[in-house]
Amino acid sequence: MTDKPIALEDRGADGGRLFSPSAGRNREVVRDVLLRFAPREGEVLEVGAGTGEHAVTFAAALPGVRWRPGDPDPQSRASIAAWAAHEGLANVAPPHAIDVSAADWEGCEAGALAGIVSLNMIHISPFESARGLLAGAGRYLAPGGVLFLYGPFSRGGVHTAPSNEAFDESLKSRDARWGVRDLEGDIVPLARDAGLELADVVEMPANNLSVVFRKG
Ligand SMILES: C[S@@+](CC[C@H](N)C(=O)[O-])C[C@H]1O[C@@H](n2cnc3c(N)ncnc32)[C@H](O)[C@@H]1O
Repeated sequence: MTDKPIALEDRGADGGRLFSPSAGRNREVVRDVLLRFAPREGEVLEVGAGTGEHAVTFAAALPGVRWRPGDPDPQSRASIAAWAAHEGLANVAPPHAIDVSAADWEGCEAGALAGIVSLNMIHISPFESARGLLAGAGRYLAPGGVLFLYGPFSRGGVHTAPSNEAFDESLKSRDARWGVRDLEGDIVPLARDAGLELADVVEMPANNLSVVFRKG
């Protein structure tokens, strides 16, 4: 984790609920792709869940799943809890505080999760977070379980758009440990080491990708 600001945009607020402009724009389009790959039952852990807007959007679309959103940041956890209360969804668990770079993810049992979801986290965090996320997916996903990532990635060492290259530079100028990750160079090798196979890559608006891994 880092002591830098955790969000790059100004967030609105209504009571405890925070509003992320980017989550407001992308939550439905990401949900529609997620629905193609997500399990329909069992427990799905969302890490680095931020405001909680994605959590309630996804949980509402997957009523048979127990959605467990969380974030190491206390203000984000308060917002997640406020969003869950506001939406009145029975299948959203209280927010956890898991830092994916930790050796143990509190409250998770080895081989038990049906899915893990992480949006816009691994590039706004040191590389240890990517390493921890993939290793944790290998430990905590059940066989056939899905790891769903969303955000900007370069491919084979090449940025997919000038705007992503500029974004990468701006991230690195804020914190040299941050940066757009390379799917083939950085992430797939970590996934392979963790026993995960790349199942799909879906191009998303604004030069983002949805990336789906499956545990063997
Ligand atoms: C840019 S925000 C994205 C929030 C939300 N997923 C979204 O797309 O709107 C990144 C989030 O990742 C969290 N985060 C950073 N490093 C983390 C780590 N090592 N483990 C878990 N969460 C982390 C931050 O606290 C922050 O809330």
